[in-house]
Amino acid sequence: MAVRVDLNISLDGYATTTDQTPENPFGEDWGRLVGAYVATRTFRERVLHDTSGEGTTGVDDAYAASYFAEVGAEIMGAGMFGLHSFPDDPDWRGWWGDEPPFRVPVLVLTHTPRPSIEMANGTVFHFLEATPREALDRALEAADGQDVRVGGGATVVRDFLRAGLVDRLHVAVAPILLGRGIRLWDDLRGLEAGYEVTAETAESGTVHLTFQR
Ligand SMILES: NC(=O)c1ccc[n+]([C@@H]2O[C@H](COP(=O)([O-])OP(=O)(O)OC[C@H]3O[C@@H](n4cnc5c(N)ncnc54)[C@H](OP(=O)(O)O)[C@@H]3O)[C@@H](O)[C@H]2O)c1
Repeated sequence: MAVRVDLNISLDGYATTTDQTPENPFGEDWGRLVGAYVATRTFRERVLHDTSGEGTTGVDDAYAASYFAEVGAEIMGAGMFGLHSFPDDPDWRGWWGDEPPFRVPVLVLTHTPRPSIEMANGTVFHFLEATPREALDRALEAADGQDVRVGGGATVVRDFLRAGLVDRLHVAVAPILLGRGIRLWDDLRGLEAGYEVTAETAESGTVHLTFQR
């Protein structure tokens, strides 16, 4: 049972830009940042429900497949769920439609909790105000022996890394420069200590770095 993070970042270390608007809720550069991941067959099947079999099947796809494997519960922040983009919509159910790709309990950290949302495919969104440690304890219980993934966004992942709660950090470093946003690595000097670090380069030019405890 491990606590895992999988994140796409730019060469200059940004995990998200901050230019999102209700009209453009992912911001201008989202497509550049996650392009190689979104192009994989796994992402197309699991997230976009595209059963045509299209999509890349190389190194990026192997990481995309392991992204979803053996995860029993997910933790995410209010920003990733979309509460910052649509704060006044009490009926907001996340970005992922009626069949979100998680298929497990998802704990959404927020200072404005709301009632849980149960989706048809096993995904249940629970909203809670808790420290990273408290949220992790709840997620471990929900995960029933499987891994817990801290899905994002940038702020929540940094909080979990700073608290020393992450066993495996996988960052897919896209060969692009964003120049602004929230940097994953700030205030994490020496993070690599205590991890074995490996790297693999995909056909897309994405470098997959894994920090394994
Ligand atoms: N690069 C990637 O692979 C990747 C992956 C996932 C998401 N993203 C992107 O990351 C962005 C979101 O990241 P973000 O840093 O803006 O937000 P975030 O990390 O998703 O959420 C941060 C927010 O969660 C709430 N929160 C955090 N810790 C809490 C705690 N202990 N208790 C209660 N509430 C807590 C707070 O919101 P409130 O105070 O408002 O409740 C906080 O502002 C999005 O643009 C998303 O697309 C990127």
